[in-house]
Amino acid sequence: MSQQPINIQRLSQPVQMPDEIATFSPKVEAEIDRHLAKYPVMRSAILPLMFIVQRERGYLDPPGVSYLAKRLNLRITDIWEVATFYSMLHLKPIGKYHIQVCKTLSCKLLGSDKITQLCVKKLGIKVGEMTADGRFSLSEVECLGSCGTAPMFQINFDYHENLTAEKVDQILESLA
Ligand code: FES
Repeated sequence: MSQQPINIQRLSQPVQMPDEIATFSPKVEAEIDRHLAKYPVMRSAILPLMFIVQRERGYLDPPGVSYLAKRLNLRITDIWEVATFYSMLHLKPIGKYHIQVCKTLSCKLLGSDKITQLCVKKLGIKVGEMTADGRFSLSEVECLGSCGTAPMFQINFDYHENLTAEKVDQILESLA
């Protein structure tokens, strides 16, 4: 299996994969072992392992990705293929409060663009960016399965639905 440094061109900025591989505490390694033991095919554990690495390192950083490739006996590109598919997997640091505005049809028709622009204005960042203090990051994502209460966004694991300008203001103020 090749662990040569590679450039990932699909990301906004090319990522040079380091030689460094993430390390974890014995407790986290034991947790990873428990997940691996559940699956007859090792690569089937890719998502639970990704969430553990993301939880421990804040995002799927290059050493974390190298670790996953090694533990799962996969190529780095196999890991990136999965990591770039799911919006809940992060390829760069996210804020303490990660705002994901749904931009799919129901939300779009009911004003998700306006919700995004309110966040942009209030936080002083663009979509895909994080505030300088690391408190907030903002992204737009596909349907979060809450179409009946559009427009909506998710902040970390919480849904905020039937959003209005006033509600967005209140929510962001409460987290500032
Ligand atoms: S369209 Fe926004 S939650 Fe489904």
